[in-house]
Amino acid sequence: MNETTATLRWEGGVDGHLMLLDQTRLPLDVVEVPCRTVEEAWDAIKRLVVRGAPAIGVAAAYGVCLSIKNGEAAVYDVVEACRYLATSRPTAVNLFWALSRMRRVAEAPTATSGPALAEALLAEARAIHDEDREMCAAMGRHGADLVADLPEGVGILTHCNAGALATGGDGSGLSPVFELARRGKRPRVWVDETRPLLQGARLTAWELMQRGIDCTLICDSMAAHVMRAGKVQAIFVGADRIAANGDAANKIGTYGVAVLAEAHGIPLYVVAPTSTIDMTLATGAEIPIEERAAEEVTEGFGRRTAPAGVRVYNPAFDVTPYRLIKAIITERGVFKPK
Ligand code: MRU
Repeated sequence: MNETTATLRWEGGVDGHLMLLDQTRLPLDVVEVPCRTVEEAWDAIKRLVVRGAPAIGVAAAYGVCLSIKNGEAAVYDVVEACRYLATSRPTAVNLFWALSRMRRVAEAPTATSGPALAEALLAEARAIHDEDREMCAAMGRHGADLVADLPEGVGILTHCNAGALATGGDGSGLSPVFELARRGKRPRVWVDETRPLLQGARLTAWELMQRGIDCTLICDSMAAHVMRAGKVQAIFVGADRIAANGDAANKIGTYGVAVLAEAHGIPLYVVAPTSTIDMTLATGAEIPIEERAAEEVTEGFGRRTAPAGVRVYNPAFDVTPYRLIKAIITERGVFKPK
């Protein structure tokens, strides 16, 4: 991605602003939108202008910097911005992880309101962004190593978007795919469209095509058929929160993919940075699952496809039990949940 198609970037110094690639408008329009206030950053996270667990964390960190006024940061405003941004979305733990790092800067014993705190906050947000880039690259290498024995043209299925659009770097779930392509393995990617918001169709297919990677879009309901036909040798997905026992929350539909993978003897790998692991939760049953508006199901993208007034249940995530996960790939290496 070049400068204007970066998922997110900070423009200027401490009084600068956050620029986001508007993911609600992809793949039709490739446009950036500025966020100049904490409220605008909150709204962008809530509306999925920026989405994907690591990207939300990085955006929130820069969002805290939007509380800086005239080159100065006030401890009270920073703590308040952290509290407020934490209410934008509940499931991806990277959001809370990044916000607690920002808050620690403001609450350090030596910290006082003023220009030095403003500089320290921006430096911390940039560090979170830079570290995310490095983590993505490392996950890509570990994931590609894991399937290095598979033949050229290996079939890989993915769900939702866990690529560069979902992170501050090259992706989590898709980073091994990019690494395999760099190693000349010519992966063939099966892209679940990912109902109801079509992150697979709108974002993953776009991203893979931009990079010249072989990809085929399927409706979510076609995955079983494709697996049974022997076209998929491995599945790579991201995660929004991983509990201590290895249960992993990811985009709704991932659990179904995992059940299918087991039925067909295909390994499913969860790829996520350690910032996605929440050791405070013993199992996935404790992970808060976001529920989103009924209209996303009944009239997504502006056209009604269900009767007016129908009752709708729209959980945005589900939890895949650890026993269905072949391995969890992090920047620190590969773990097998027990
Ligand atoms: O609702 P979204 O689009 O934010 O959901 C994103 C996902 O579920 C991704 O798979 C997950 O965040 C991992 S991305 C690196």
